[in-house]
Amino acid sequence: MDKQRTAVYPGTFDPITNGHLDILRRACDLFDGVTVCIARNPSKEPMFRIDDRFAMISEALDEVGLDGRVQVETFDGLIVDYADSLGAIALIRGLRAVSDFEFEFQMALMNRHLNSRLHTVYLMPKDEHTYLSSSIVKNVARHGGDIRPFVPSGVARRLMAAYGHTLGE
Ligand code: COA
Repeated sequence: MDKQRTAVYPGTFDPITNGHLDILRRACDLFDGVTVCIARNPSKEPMFRIDDRFAMISEALDEVGLDGRVQVETFDGLIVDYADSLGAIALIRGLRAVSDFEFEFQMALMNRHLNSRLHTVYLMPKDEHTYLSSSIVKNVARHGGDIRPFVPSGVARRLMAAYGHTLGE
């Protein structure tokens, strides 16, 4: 049987948004398996603890029916090493706008330098998700705005509760 071609989708996911899920769906169309790799990333000072980010992703995968096809893991250290330990051949990243390009270009070339066997694959989310980011969703939630169109329902609930708001009808 042919070797399984699997990919990792790394990020901080603080929290996961519908934009991330859109990228994941596309990655599932291309690969036999995809592992979401949650970086602890203390330098970003995430709002949610890593186990909460893990729980939100697992709930979201269940909600959109991707739970059988996607694994979720947490990692420390270099993503290329973690990807290698899983036997992945590619690293998935989303490109939303030109503004993402510089950082992503730098990261892709550094990762290639660190491990030339691992390919970085960029996917574009649906246009309605191109302006989404975890920070902007947190900002709207902090001020009590309706974030339900942008994140899975479990994330909306936790985020609003974290800011002391309740979700409307
Ligand atoms: N939809 C919505 N938002 C998206 C998105 C999409 N499709 N794609 C990216 N984003 C947003 C996120 O919401 C986040 O927004 P924020 O900064 O406003 O919170 C931002 O883009 C990026 O976050 P995320 O997708 O979670 O990834 P990241 O850039 O935080 O992840 C790592 C970076 C973890 C991949 C990288 O730091 C890493 O690999 N770390 C491990 C150490 C290592 O190997 N370092 C060497 C790398 S060269």
